[in-house]
Amino acid sequence: MQFLENFKPEIIIASPGRINFIGEHTDYNMGYVLPTAIGNKITFKLRKNGFESRCNVYSIGYKGFSLNLNEISVSETEWENYVLGVLNEISKLSDKVRGFDCTIESDLPLGSGLSSSAAMECGLAYALNELFDLGLSKIDIVKLSQRAEHSYVGTQCGIMDQFASVMSREGHVILLDCQSLEYKHIPIDIHPYKLIMLNTKVSHNLASSEYNTRKQECELGVVTLQKKNPEVSSLRDVTREMLEEGKTELSERVYNRCSFIIDENNRVFEVAEALKENDLKTVGSILYTAHEGISKLYEVSCPESDFLVDLTKEMDFVLGARQTGGGFGGCTLNIVHETKVETLIAEATLAYKRKFNIDLEAFEVEPSGGTSAENLI
Ligand code: GLA
Repeated sequence: MQFLENFKPEIIIASPGRINFIGEHTDYNMGYVLPTAIGNKITFKLRKNGFESRCNVYSIGYKGFSLNLNEISVSETEWENYVLGVLNEISKLSDKVRGFDCTIESDLPLGSGLSSSAAMECGLAYALNELFDLGLSKIDIVKLSQRAEHSYVGTQCGIMDQFASVMSREGHVILLDCQSLEYKHIPIDIHPYKLIMLNTKVSHNLASSEYNTRKQECELGVVTLQKKNPEVSSLRDVTREMLEEGKTELSERVYNRCSFIIDENNRVFEVAEALKENDLKTVGSILYTAHEGISKLYEVSCPESDFLVDLTKEMDFVLGARQTGGGFGGCTLNIVHETKVETLIAEATLAYKRKFNIDLEAFEVEPSGGTSAENLI
């Protein structure tokens, strides 16, 4: 694209991916989550280009595209919808955006359950807010990015990913109540352990449609349980007793989905407590239990993720592991003794290659800060 010659950005924004310690699929059930941003990020470089409405966007690894701010609509090219969706949502809040040029670069593996989608949406929204002085708060950015995902990308996601990408603090996890959006940063120190991600490199294309189906199944559970418990407005309000009492009115599938969510919400508090006490053994064993639920009750795992989690159960230097993110592939999160990281990676790489003929990708992550401006060079 022509603008790339002599491109001098006015601002640089780094927008991170996230991991979630625990609390999977609880966000759209108005429950609790425990995520944090990681060091892997998407970097946006922007400048105003002097045009009223013409914008040029170039993503390294994808083709660039140009757009007119007055003619925003859903594109057939999937990744463009992250940009268009954000511009569409911003246009409802502000009329201050004008023509801009933007480059996008990423060291965040796409489709790996580390929330590259939210990093895209929030990073662009954050950058436009700075460049055009839109006066949006961080929470505005989080919410408009979530709406962009709903309307232009088509996943009816909860708020966790966008919240974690924008609001995280280095060395902390966020205990977030997805109903009230009240949150607490909890410091974590997992020394002498490390957080190692094993990327299955599969992202089954079921992910988006099945995600929306899970949400509907949970909603069906709520509607059914409401008959005896009118005070219930989401699965967050459902107790184990209510669920057992209503069991005969639910299909086995919907019962299992609800059962998982109730347990998963409780696990968020158990893990938050254990992290405060530096009790990593407890954290690890809860991660294994959670993965069982992800796989058997919520059914959002896949053979590749199950294999990698099971493999580590034989290793006494791994305290716990589970698939992280929306599901059907992506990464597993592993708590591994620092002296044995190489051993884990070597053994898992070999076994995974033998079983699935896929080259595993492994990397360390650390709890990092949220979206921020970087210095211009
Ligand atoms: C995806 C969604 C989140 C959340 C997770 C599962 O990452 O974007 O809102 O529901 O899946 O915990």
